[in-house]
Amino acid sequence: MARITASVYTSHVPAIGAALDLGKTTEPYWQKVFSGYEFSKRWLTENKPDVVFLVYNDHATAFSLEIIPTFAIGTAAEYAIADEGWGPRPVPKVVGHPALASHIAQSVIQDDFDLTIVNKMDVDHGLTVPLSLMCGALDPHEDAWPCPVIPFAVNVVQYPVPSGRRCFQLGQAIRRAVESYDEPLRVQIWGTGGMSHQLQGPRAGLINAEWDNRFLDRLVAEPAKLAEVPHIEYVREAGSEGIELVMWLIARGAMSDIAAGRAGKAPKVVHRFYHVPASNTAVGHLILENA
Ligand code: DHB
Ligand code: FE
Repeated sequence: MARITASVYTSHVPAIGAALDLGKTTEPYWQKVFSGYEFSKRWLTENKPDVVFLVYNDHATAFSLEIIPTFAIGTAAEYAIADEGWGPRPVPKVVGHPALASHIAQSVIQDDFDLTIVNKMDVDHGLTVPLSLMCGALDPHEDAWPCPVIPFAVNVVQYPVPSGRRCFQLGQAIRRAVESYDEPLRVQIWGTGGMSHQLQGPRAGLINAEWDNRFLDRLVAEPAKLAEVPHIEYVREAGSEGIELVMWLIARGAMSDIAAGRAGKAPKVVHRFYHVPASNTAVGHLILENA
């Protein structure tokens, strides 16, 4: 059977992608950001998954106001890199895993979560920046990402957005789906976006480091309680774009300590990083391994 071995959490700031693509990673401003991922890149090569299930949000790139899926699973064989206005990022295309993605869609929908199934989708910085942070710079013509990726897009851009509680429950359904797949795949689940930031209005530039660090503490230690935080608290405390953090609860809900009827041994925190600023955003990053 397939199993979830670890979860990774990281912010997805577009300027991080630009810093990588333009060779600015050693500039003092960016070096501080990238230093938080040195361990992670080594860890990923030493703990290479067979598939990454990557929870992210689309930023009006693949979707628009015409169609707003709350939860969308990518079941395609591959995904093109989106042009977000500056040309597509010079990174390899994303190869999918249609068999596992279709199985997860079947299992999760039968488990009462209504997913949108997407067979064609360009992927934006929400997905490619986390991949770049964890894998380092790659040549689009010579290299490939280390493994197939299943993109899972969550609407946190256009209200109404899903609650943290719903996201946490969905993570549990995703774990059940993975564990019922009849092939011994090592799957990692990544929750991306956040941390506190607001890109618009009178509070633009808002960062709340105290709230962010408490979120990281609680994500590890009391995720079920954290999942009860209403969306208005994210917006009030972490800014209008801080609501991206509900996606982290999907990944956390998929960890084995959350499973009903299990011993519930807490996951091992193998890495934690927090830094302000990166563009307009607080960067947070965690790696949790299943006990
Ligand atoms: C920034 C952060 C985001 O999450 C995003 O989607 C766009 C911009 C920023 O910090 O500039
Ligand atoms: Fe974003």
